[in-house]
Amino acid sequence: MPHTTITKTYAKNEPLGDPGKKAVIDTIIEQYKDIPGATMVVLNELQSAIEFITETMQEYVADNLHVPYSRVHGVVSFYSFFTPTPRGKHTVKFCMGTACYVGGTPALIEKTKQLLGVEPGQTTADGNITFEICRCVGACSQAPVIVVDEDVLGRVRPNKLPQIMKPIMEDKE
Ligand code: FES
Repeated sequence: MPHTTITKTYAKNEPLGDPGKKAVIDTIIEQYKDIPGATMVVLNELQSAIEFITETMQEYVADNLHVPYSRVHGVVSFYSFFTPTPRGKHTVKFCMGTACYVGGTPALIEKTKQLLGVEPGQTTADGNITFEICRCVGACSQAPVIVVDEDVLGRVRPNKLPQIMKPIMEDKE
């Protein structure tokens, strides 16, 4: 029977389609594949090395570790440390803890959707800003709170958001 080689094609920007990144991914999987319960370790290593874990990568990990895709996907979805898409240069997080939620976070999120043109959990089309929801950051007396990169900003009002976002929207390089 003739030998056939199946070459899988990957979407543009998919790390598995980049020979250098694929080699890194394969090395990590190879290193841990025979260790029982290695899924979490492999995902941690991939997040650190590649900085995100696409659904295609999750399928690849599941196939190679011989675990169900649902288990891998469940871990990536549960822990906010894992991200399925590349992060932007900047991150803006909106606290959804009780004090902030009651204090106005939903209105801030609506305004930010209009400003950035993406939904929470997504990164702007230019790859510059990742828009996220987070849990209480411990500044409840300042509710509602947002975190822009490392800066915690309190008592934020929707009409202040354009001014707050402007520096990071313009800082793309
Ligand atoms: S609830 Fe938002 S900082 Fe605590």
